[in-house]
Amino acid sequence: MEVIIMKDYNAMSKKAAEIIKSVVLRKPNCVLGLATGGTPVGTYKELIKFHKEGKLDFSKVITFNLDEYISLPKTHDQSYFYFMHDNLFNHINVNPENVHVPDGMAEDVETFCKWYEDEIKKAGGVDVQLLGIGSDGHIAFNEPGSSLASRTRMKTLDEQTIKDNARFFKSEAEVPRYAITMGVGTILESKELLLIANGKKKADVCAEFIEGPITSQITASALQLHPKAIVVLDEEAASKLKKYNYYKWVYENKPKK
Ligand code: GLP
Repeated sequence: MEVIIMKDYNAMSKKAAEIIKSVVLRKPNCVLGLATGGTPVGTYKELIKFHKEGKLDFSKVITFNLDEYISLPKTHDQSYFYFMHDNLFNHINVNPENVHVPDGMAEDVETFCKWYEDEIKKAGGVDVQLLGIGSDGHIAFNEPGSSLASRTRMKTLDEQTIKDNARFFKSEAEVPRYAITMGVGTILESKELLLIANGKKKADVCAEFIEGPITSQITASALQLHPKAIVVLDEEAASKLKKYNYYKWVYENKPKK
């Protein structure tokens, strides 16, 4: 696992966007795995900026999102479908036919999940998967106890996740209790993983998944099993790391000639 520590949220977002940009430039028809939550918003802003400056063309890019709440229609302003359009897709030239977000209203969830997995395979697999991390260590909605071999399926959300995500809803009672999520096994098949985290609130869980044992209790720790996993943290999220000498990317303070 490559751990890169950036000064703050903006620098973390820029770094993550640069990594995604390099994949798109190398392979214009690449498959991007995308994430929701507050953390990737800055990364998406940077990608939109690259596009508006004419530096990034998404016309051939295919996208797959990690997860979606069950019971929220696409038009609900807290659905991940809505979030992705609001924060990224509406501002770039991605072909709507190439966009995939799990369908939270699917009548037959099991059949839908199998179809989603097949679509990822048909597209050639995910080239780079962007990930955030929940305060309980989850990636996508793979809550503590999720099998590290799990595939796309329905998951019950943990109390902690419901509490954390209540900030986006009018009340905690409105937060859906179930979601469709790619499994840890699905995520591990991506050619490259890119996890981003910022802020003091993520410091403990970042130390646990990077320096602790691999465990289904903290599904982000499965990144230790991946041959090409990059973790970009800001200094606050990295503040509880203590075991190794990590690479500190001094973005604004490059050595002067
Ligand atoms: C949700 C999403 C995760 C995301 C997590 C963290 O639970 N399903 O994919 O990583 O929130 O969100 P935030 O970035 O807002 O801390």
